[in-house]
Amino acid sequence: MIKNIVLIGFMGCGKSTIGKELAKNFNFNFIDTDCVIQEEENKSIEEIFNIFGESYFRELEKKVCAQVSNMKNCVISTGGGVIKNIENINNLKKNGIIIYLKATPEKIYQNLKYDDKRPLLKNKDKFKAICTLLKEREELYNKYADIVFDINDSSPFILAKNIKNTILTR
Ligand code: S3P
Repeated sequence: MIKNIVLIGFMGCGKSTIGKELAKNFNFNFIDTDCVIQEEENKSIEEIFNIFGESYFRELEKKVCAQVSNMKNCVISTGGGVIKNIENINNLKKNGIIIYLKATPEKIYQNLKYDDKRPLLKNKDKFKAICTLLKEREELYNKYADIVFDINDSSPFILAKNIKNTILTR
């Protein structure tokens, strides 16, 4: 039986878009951990950060990762900071294959330049903040991934097809 497909990667790399496409291809359910958090708290990610702070958000993220790790036949799109806690990865790996969607800072900036929903990039020089955070995290994304996919030059549609083929022929 195929495991869950867990997408990790930096903000704005396309985890949700590619994840939805992949879920269609596999006929799996699509779960976005940030959406689950927002629904459970009845607040946006931005509000959660503003009202309660990042560490509170990370606790919610940990709880939701543990919950969704028990599910089957799912494509799970995670928040960019999920790799900050090894417990999340251990949980997600129990039932899932981890795919890192790798993007350059330029591509990420391109995708996020008009975005104002990412608290960690707000009121900052966005490109600089992306570069700094990506540098901090890149090693962990690579380390925890079972497969790495470069997303820079492909459409979500093509990427989902490639990811599917790779998983099925592994
Ligand atoms: C975060 C990424 C966001 C969201 C939160 C924190 C991060 O998710 O979980 O703003 O630490 O990189 P996306 O990767 O879906 O933007």
